[in-house]
Amino acid sequence: MKKKPKEIVIGVTAGISAYKACEVVRSLKKKGHSVTVLMTKDAVNFIGPLTFKTLSERPVVIDMFEENMQWDPCHIALADKADVIAIVPATAQMIAKLALGLCDDIISCVILAAKLKPVICPAMNDNMYKHPATQTNLKKLKDFGYKIISPIKGKLACGKYGIGHLAPVDVIVSEIEKQL
Ligand SMILES: Cc1cc2nc3c(=O)[nH]c(=O)nc-3n(C[C@H](O)[C@H](O)[C@H](O)COP(=O)(O)O)c2cc1C
Repeated sequence: MKKKPKEIVIGVTAGISAYKACEVVRSLKKKGHSVTVLMTKDAVNFIGPLTFKTLSERPVVIDMFEENMQWDPCHIALADKADVIAIVPATAQMIAKLALGLCDDIISCVILAAKLKPVICPAMNDNMYKHPATQTNLKKLKDFGYKIISPIKGKLACGKYGIGHLAPVDVIVSEIEKQL
């Protein structure tokens, strides 16, 4: 009998490396998983939802107040059915929100409502990453049991070389699969 595909939720936030989330979605789909993409409102400045809709073959959720056909709220339904939730890339802003338990967007709502521990892939400017606020927030997420896939050194969007580059796509995909 054919195995039921795993349900993977990928949250995309407003970082310059948001385009790399396309490769993550494409790779997970190729491996036979079902993927639902969630985006913050700011993330659509970096990449169009149509790209993710086409790659995932599913609607992309951006607005949690949008009417849907289900009786249950979208964020609870997604939190319940997910086998893994990953944020690729995770902005400093999203990491701060999660550390505080804030939930004013679809991604942070799903994570707060989910029983499973998400995979967080930070990517940002090196000063943003090294800032005590971000480091304290990441430590908090680790203490919550969240899996942090640390950024690597590389050429950053600002032109500098430093820490903050999104981890390689294959590392992210294999970590997501490890959680299944
Ligand atoms: C060109 C540009 C690139 C940015 N890249 C990043 C980034 O890589 N990481 C980050 O944490 N913030 C980055 N920011 C700032 C975020 O877009 C900003 O904090 C945003 O409000 C985060 O929204 P979100 O976390 O709700 O998606 C960037 C902003 C601009 C204008």
